Amino acid sequence: MIKIAVFLILFTSYAIYSTVIYSKGTESGIQLTGPQAEKVSQGKYLYEQYNCVACHQLYGLGGYLGPELTTAYSDPQRGEIYMKAFLQAGGPRMPNFHFKADEIDAIISYLKYVDSTAVTYKSMP
Ligand code: HEC
Repeated sequence: MIKIAVFLILFTSYAIYSTVIYSKGTESGIQLTGPQAEKVSQGKYLYEQYNCVACHQLYGLGGYLGPELTTAYSDPQRGEIYMKAFLQAGGPRMPNFHFKADEIDAIISYLKYVDSTAVTYKSMP
């Protein structure tokens, strides 16, 4: 008798829990608004369009020819001006994509945004 009662309690809890989780969705609380949001998404679009991920990693995912870019913005050795130089002229192995100034701004805004979200990433050894 007690086994049936335990089963029914567990089964009901599981059913309620599953319904809540299933209907809650996976949207995160991060919402960008204002002009900065537009720039960041334009930068993200360019990052995807030019396939930067083929050579660079964000949050540890991507190709390995180029350096990891997740925290490049706040890295004291790199930062905004350093990154702009590569986006303007390319490097020994990094292609020059001949970006316009506003495209470079958008990509930098995106990488700045990625950097600001990388809280856990920065705390890793
Ligand atoms: C063919 C591979 C390749 C592609 C595609 C590529 N990069 Fe790079 N990138 C590199 C390499 C390699 C470096 C290191 C400098 C060098 O050796 O030229 C670099 C350096 C950089 C740097 C300087 C950061 C640092 O730590 O040195 C930035 C910023 C950067 N790339 C952004 C981008 C963006 C944004 C895109 C897409 C528009 C992109 N890269 C596409 C290979 C690539």
